[in-house]
Formats: sequence, structure tokens, C-alpha cells
Amino acid sequence: MSGLVPNARSRRIEESATLAITAKAAKLKAAGLDVVSLGAGEPDFATPGPIATAGIRAIEQGNTRYTAAPGTPELRAAGAKWLSDTFALDYGADEVMVTAGAKGALHMALDAIVEPGDAVLILAPYWVSYPALVTMADGKPVVLPAVPDAGFVHDAATIDAAFARHRARGIIVNFPNNPSGSVPTRAQVQAIVDVAKQHDAWIVSDEIYSTLLYDGATHVSPAALPGGRERTIVVNGFTKSHTLTGWRTSFLAGPKAVVDAACRIQSQVLGNPCTISQAATLAACQQALPEEQERRMRAFDERRRYLVTEINRIPGMKLAAPRGAFYALVDVRELCRTRGLDDVAVCEQLLDRHHLAAVPGSAFAIPGFVRFSYAAAMDQLRAAVTRLRAFAEAK
Ligand SMILES: Cc1ncc(COP(=O)(O)O)c(C=O)c1O
Repeated sequence: MSGLVPNARSRRIEESATLAITAKAAKLKAAGLDVVSLGAGEPDFATPGPIATAGIRAIEQGNTRYTAAPGTPELRAAGAKWLSDTFALDYGADEVMVTAGAKGALHMALDAIVEPGDAVLILAPYWVSYPALVTMADGKPVVLPAVPDAGFVHDAATIDAAFARHRARGIIVNFPNNPSGSVPTRAQVQAIVDVAKQHDAWIVSDEIYSTLLYDGATHVSPAALPGGRERTIVVNGFTKSHTLTGWRTSFLAGPKAVVDAACRIQSQVLGNPCTISQAATLAACQQALPEEQERRMRAFDERRRYLVTEINRIPGMKLAAPRGAFYALVDVRELCRTRGLDDVAVCEQLLDRHHLAAVPGSAFAIPGFVRFSYAAAMDQLRAAVTRLRAFAEAK
């Protein structure tokens, strides 16, 4: 036996809770159990035909070699145009980098801006990977507790105080939010930009759900607001809206110096994002596919409304209507109190006894809540509601 072990930093990185739950659900399914799996945030729709075809064509035409590290010039330019047309963001092609998924973009962004020991503010509830990504960049994640009673949007004064207290280098924001579905107003986003400006801090803005909006909500990027552009790194792409989940591409956009730094890191770590997937993503930029978009949004909205109605009828559970993304963050605090359980135990019992997979709020720093993904077909959601009711009514 050697004394060789993985380093301390890697030991501080935990496996993604959502992936762990999904893997456990898949194992039960493989053993023949009828499992309803609402753990993962992956649309049940296929990658749209024209986008997939562009990938197939790339292979057929031998477009399978290395590209430039930050992506092909065509795709960088198309990404800049898409960000401009869709979100009124003003970037040149050299301020947009293509990378391997939003996860890759967040990793490159944080690696490019965090100095060892720097605090980075993370607003709870947060997407599970943020603390690990900050840790891997040698930073210190500082989590601001969730504010469910304020619609999950933190006020500027709280953020300001946290910046001052921790002398934070930056903040990660994610709107529409996974898991809460919250979407702040323009004024609320501007307030965050103003605070970041006051502390001369970065904003890493994860906007991967920015086209998945309901009830008239609008998405505003911090980079589109006064004082925002020079300090914001935008992460966006087609992962969630067009089911490019397995293709692993997304965009990182920001001031040229930081994009150049991220490109240098990417050139050493990744080489380049997958060439075939870049061809598919170019097709996604060039063809808006409005009918496909509408079809998806109608389906997501129907599912969302169904869950809001049905879950609020279940004793001990509450669900505020999400305004974006495709998650139902259910408040089970009352049920936890009456049963003497926590959210982790709730999820364990749901999976073990009712074969329903969901993610405990603790994974997102919001204990007492449970997240269900409604990127799943209606029959699955109906089965989920039946199982949830059985769980809530069981003695
Ligand atoms: C908020 C958020 N950011 C980033 C990602 C990762 O996206 P990608 O698959 O493009 O890496 C996810 C996926 O669940 C997410 O929910």
C-alpha cells in the first residue's frame, strides 16, 4: 500500500447532489422498480432536429478536427449576435468564448478572476456546483442565507453588508434561479450591480435559464445595466432551452481582458470545446425555432400550473409559483415539523418508500424545502403528485 492520497482540495469537493440522486434513481429503475425521477434538470424534449442535423453534418463533412481554443470565429460571432438580439448585450466576437457547458464557463470565469483566499458571495438557494467551483478556484465560498419570504431575491443592503464584511472579490448570481425559479425586477438587478460597483467587485451571472420565463417575467442581465458591463461575466447558452445538455457547449462573455484570460486557461485545460457540438450550436444561434420554443414553453407552463395547484392541496406542503426555469421548490417545513424529519429524510423516504426521486433543499442551502424538476412529462408529474400525497397522508 502506498501513502498516496488525493490532495486536500479535491477532498473538499463533494459529488453533485443532483447527480447522486439521479444515479440512485437510475439504479432502482434498472432493478425493475417503477421510479419517477424528478431529480435532474434535463428537458424531456429531444435536441431539435435542425440542431442535431448540423452536428451530424459536421461529422459527415469531416468537420471533426481541433478548432481555435475559444471556439470557431463563426460561432463566437454568432454567439455575440445572439446575446445582442436576445438580451440587448453588446459584445464583440472577441469578448465571447465558447466552452464546455455552463459548468465549464463558470469554472473558467472563476479561475480567471479569483485570487487565492478571495471570498465570493453566493446567494442561497444556489445551484449545487457554485461552492465547489469557487473552492476549486482557490476561493472561499460565502453563502448568504435564503430569503423565501422575499420571493428569494436578496436585498441590496444584505449583499452590501456581506461584501463589506468579507471584502469579497465577487458575487455569483443566477436568475432565473435554480432551484427557486425567482426572477428579480430590473430595479433589483440594478441594485446588485450598484453594490458590486461600490465594492469594485465582479458579478458572475449564470443566465442559463434566461429564456424560460412565465407570467410575463422578463430577464435582465446585470451586463445590460449601467455600471454592469465592465464587471459582469455572463454565462449563457442553449443547454436548457434547446436540450443541448449532452452536447456540452455554452458561452462566456465579458470584458476582453477577462475573456482572454479564460481563453488562455481553456487552451491549457480543454484545448477547445467539441468541434461537432460547436457546429450544432452555430445552428442554434442562426435558427431561432420559434415554434419549437413556444411548444416547449406551453408544456413547461402547463406542468408548472399543474404542480402549483396540486402541491398546494397536499397537507404540509406549499409551492409559490416559479417565474422562470423548470423547478418546483416545495416548502415542506410544516411537514418536517409534524413528522420530526428533515428534508434529506423526506427525500430518502420519498425514494425508498414511494419511488419518487427529488433533491433535498439542503443541497441548495435551503433546508426544509425539496426540489422537483418539471422538465418531465405530465404523466410523470401526475404519478409524482399521487406519490407525494400518499407520503403526506401516511401515518
Ligand atoms: C443554474 C445552472 N447553471 C449551470 C448548469 C450547468 O449547465 P451545463 O449543462 O450547460 O453545464 C445548470 C445545470 O443544471 C444549472 O442549473
